[in-house]
Amino acid sequence: MNQTIRVTILQAPTAGVIEVLEDTVIEVSDQGMIESLAPATDQRVDLALGQDVVLLPGLIDTHVHAPQWPQLGTGLDLPLDQWLLEYTFPLEARFADLAFAVSVWDSLVPALLAGGTTTAVYYGSVHDAATTALAQACIIHGQRAFVGRVAMDHPQGTPEWYRDADPAAAVAASHRSVEAIRALPGASGLVEPVITPRFIPACTDATLEGLGELADATGALVQTHCAESDWESDYVLDRHGCTDARSLESFGLVRDHAVLAHATHLTDDDRITLIERGAGVAHCPLSNSYFANAVFPARRNLDAGLRIGLGTDIAGGSEPSLLTQCEHAV
Ligand code: GUN
Ligand code: FE
Repeated sequence: MNQTIRVTILQAPTAGVIEVLEDTVIEVSDQGMIESLAPATDQRVDLALGQDVVLLPGLIDTHVHAPQWPQLGTGLDLPLDQWLLEYTFPLEARFADLAFAVSVWDSLVPALLAGGTTTAVYYGSVHDAATTALAQACIIHGQRAFVGRVAMDHPQGTPEWYRDADPAAAVAASHRSVEAIRALPGASGLVEPVITPRFIPACTDATLEGLGELADATGALVQTHCAESDWESDYVLDRHGCTDARSLESFGLVRDHAVLAHATHLTDDDRITLIERGAGVAHCPLSNSYFANAVFPARRNLDAGLRIGLGTDIAGGSEPSLLTQCEHAV
């Protein structure tokens, strides 16, 4: 049976446009799909939300590190490279314990939903089982999600107790994870896998190349960090002799609907590459304040035609609300 809701709706159907649909009746199917919108009349409705309530479309968080939920709001006293080694990798390594992982997912996913985040783009950990369980938790709690098993194998950029053994292992585990998430009952239309090289400093060239090929072979989406901080940009310049975006592109990782997090240090040339390839940026303004040593020029990038979404970057960002990210973006 369809349900009817009477309420005022606020929405932004395209960039630059805000629509207010006052006193509107929404008809919703059993599957939760909107069947119709119409101005209210005298008809009886199932739920009248009243004059002082406004309904928004679901919010989309384009960048969340799910295993960092337990350290939200802590440990932000170090720059990115030290923060990863001191706090973040030790926490993520604990997700080898599947029961611990599930307990965190069952806290995180409902908390984000309660804040209005109906879609999230997640990094899991290097662990296949914990990452598949994250996708499962999204299905159970009814959150649309893109879920990536993190690949990281660089012997200098990662600790030996939290990394893939070698490029072959990194690519094979990423491939298994894509298949495992696609095979979950209820995943179709709700939860999708994402190929997730963590970022260039954590990955060998062979892994980056193998994951670009895996994206071609499986058609799965890609996400990674790109030009996040001055340290990261300089590192890539040093190792590959070009910008982070150029290097990722050379491995086939800047592609249609790829989600590149941060991108605070893009050059004009990089921006054109992202636009031409159809990649988008997860703009994480609060996290950028901690780690980037730069500001993402959102207005200039939007005007240039770059696709941009907002991200919390939990827990590099210390606030799980996308509405808070809106404030920081402004
Ligand atoms: N770069 C590589 N890994 C991470 C991470 O976990 N958080 C942030 N903010 N940046 C990263
Ligand atoms: Fe991040």
